[in-house]
Amino acid sequence: MRILAIETSCDDTGIAIIDADKHGRFKVLANIVSSQIKIHKKYGGVFPAMAKREHQRNLVPVLVKALKTSGLLKTGDTKINNKILEPIFSHEPELFKKTVLFFKKYAKPKIDLISVTNGPGLEPCLWTGVNFTKALSYAWNIPIIPVNHIEGHILVNYLAKPKPLAKAGFPAIALIVSGGHTQIILVKKPGNYKILGETRDDAAGECFDKCAKILGLPYPGGPEIAKLAKKAGMFPESRAFGKLPRPMIKTEDYDFSFSGLKTAVLYADQKVKTKNLKYKQTMSAEVQQAIIDVLIKKTIKAVKNYKAKTLILGGGVSANEELKKQFQQTISQHLNGVEVLTPPANLSTDNGLMIAITAYFHKNKTISWQKLKAQANLRISK
Ligand code: KG4
Ligand code: ZN
Repeated sequence: MRILAIETSCDDTGIAIIDADKHGRFKVLANIVSSQIKIHKKYGGVFPAMAKREHQRNLVPVLVKALKTSGLLKTGDTKINNKILEPIFSHEPELFKKTVLFFKKYAKPKIDLISVTNGPGLEPCLWTGVNFTKALSYAWNIPIIPVNHIEGHILVNYLAKPKPLAKAGFPAIALIVSGGHTQIILVKKPGNYKILGETRDDAAGECFDKCAKILGLPYPGGPEIAKLAKKAGMFPESRAFGKLPRPMIKTEDYDFSFSGLKTAVLYADQKVKTKNLKYKQTMSAEVQQAIIDVLIKKTIKAVKNYKAKTLILGGGVSANEELKKQFQQTISQHLNGVEVLTPPANLSTDNGLMIAITAYFHKNKTISWQKLKAQANLRISK
């Protein structure tokens, strides 16, 4: 079974193609991601309208590259009726033009299913991917599997380590930490989830990004803070800003709150006179550790309380080396035997492959293009 997957929920345009056999073994034929970081760097963050414009520009070239890499790009003419196609793209005129040209130039590839992120995410971005998927589904006459982005961040771990998850790996606890989400999820098995807790305000990645901005670091702030934190030494003025708070670390629930941490960093920053490199390195390490402490405390509590056999990390923040290291250390000290699954860095951040893998698990839940819609606030469980 060959699955093509499209991801446009935030600022990455991702398209992947996989071959899956009936035993759940995956062969990755292509996983192309076009990152918009350079554009958003200029403005210090992601603006949905700008991200949507970039998706409109990127989707066709990324698709062509994915098909080419997979050896599935065939020249030819795909017959389409513009009376059907044009209304699909009523909000994406630029993408409409590019898609028409694509259909004129290329024939239908050997694909069995098309999957797409239908939520959660930035609404205009989601709709761009969704409408492009509708067009492909209509023109190629291939059914669609809508995929929840958060589930994608969880199940992408199947690719790295299929066995523990496929066999006795459940129940598992997943911590999904990205620029838009911070959730602790009980995974009873693939497809069966319960959100145990989540952030009440900013996501962990958003906190990294906002604190980085305060420190004058470029977007996205997470990797910048991680880089500087590695070189942290003793900054004499660190006494001036004191210890940063660990919001909600002692609460009984599994919820988080990161906006207070950002405010604490802002106030601390105002107290420091010499904002040299040493200061930025020290503050970066403090911010990173404050975030890691809270994430570890709440997640480990969930692993214990639900007697989880596996801990799954996912989302952009899970690319953080220090976070992974400290999770691993805590597990081996206190919960030996629990398997920790983390995706490689390129699969921690958004990509099409995570959507393709997830679609495989829902291969029987196909819908027609007329039924597909984006849901910005889609939830993995009630
Ligand atoms: O999953 P993702 O690519 O997109 C969303 O769905 O949001 O996550 C992006 C987020 C950004 O906030 C970015 O700063 C953060 O992940 N991030 C990191 C690291 N790499 C990316 N945060 C901390 N350390 C990193 N190494
Ligand atoms: Zn994501």
